Amino acid sequence: MSVLVATDFDADEQAGFIDLLRGLLPHERFVQSSDGEVDVAIVANPPEGALQGLPGLKLIQSMWAGADRLLRDPTLPKDVPLARMVDPAMNRAMAETALWAVLSLHRRFFDYAAQQRATRWQLLPQPRADEVSVLVLGLGEMGRTAAMTLASHGYHVSGWSTRETNVDGVRTAHGEAGLATLLAAADIVINLLPLTPATQGFFDASRLARLKPGASLVNLARGAHVVDADLLAALASGRVSHAVLDVFRTEPLPADHPYWHHPAVTVLPHAAAQTDLRSATAAAVANVRALREGRPLANLVDRQRGY
Ligand code: NAP
Ligand code: GLV
Repeated sequence: MSVLVATDFDADEQAGFIDLLRGLLPHERFVQSSDGEVDVAIVANPPEGALQGLPGLKLIQSMWAGADRLLRDPTLPKDVPLARMVDPAMNRAMAETALWAVLSLHRRFFDYAAQQRATRWQLLPQPRADEVSVLVLGLGEMGRTAAMTLASHGYHVSGWSTRETNVDGVRTAHGEAGLATLLAAADIVINLLPLTPATQGFFDASRLARLKPGASLVNLARGAHVVDADLLAALASGRVSHAVLDVFRTEPLPADHPYWHHPAVTVLPHAAAQTDLRSATAAAVANVRALREGRPLANLVDRQRGY
């Protein structure tokens, strides 16, 4: 049998990735297009249609944490187990980005950067970390790690998920009922929800209107969680004082998008937690070995829920 490697990597990165895979799975045959023998596909943003016509397929292993793009492909085989990337190194990278964003907002470092550009020397208020309320939406692999990291730095952290869950040092709530109170109390809201039909356009005018006036939004999950026109209106009205945006509906962010030059928006190029091929390849390989040895597969996406 063969392992199909389907990615959007450039030629050098793809060759390096296949070398890593060969080093860990020396007895597997790796192919870059279907040869009729494929029973495993290891994918990273594959082109739409790349996984159709593979009758022997038994596992799709993604190198990405979010499965939304794969699930949007109408040609994705319906009954084949789909595993997403879960890698502690990626969770830590995400927590670092969340911590950087929260520190920058709390300690006004974005404002100081703007003051430098204006040759302005002015001290701004410096509240304590325990006076800053941070809400983390989504308490999965990434949200949980980010929330615990922020709590360990003294922030007053709450978190929200679908199902009831406990996170050390974090006040948690679940379901729509718990959300309104959390949104109204948070100085900084961090989005780490998966993109699903239930979370598409989550930050629309009505939700943004429920934020504490002057709150900041940090979107580290997916661009389609935000209704851009509504966020721009909330920034204009002062309901949202600053937005840190790592992800966008169209990536790369088009050159004429208002976010680029907005004084209250910080743009990152989908850099919050990149897949680290060194550790992520080991995680993918562990699932291929599990399949070969008849053990349960890890990190399967629940297609009904969409994550
Ligand atoms: P995960 O482990 O699947 O966690 C998802 C969390 O969101 C769970 O706590 C889940 O709650 C909660 N959730 C899902 N739908 C919800 C809803 N409708 N209402 C309330 N809570 C809901 O995902 P993850 O690994 O932490 O990753 C989260 C997302 O981060 C990914 O889907 C991806 O979009 C994004 N991401 C971005 C980057 C980047 O570089 N910017 C990198 C990696 C990932 P329950 O478990 O209780 O249902
Ligand atoms: C990146 O956004 C991922 O989902 O891994």
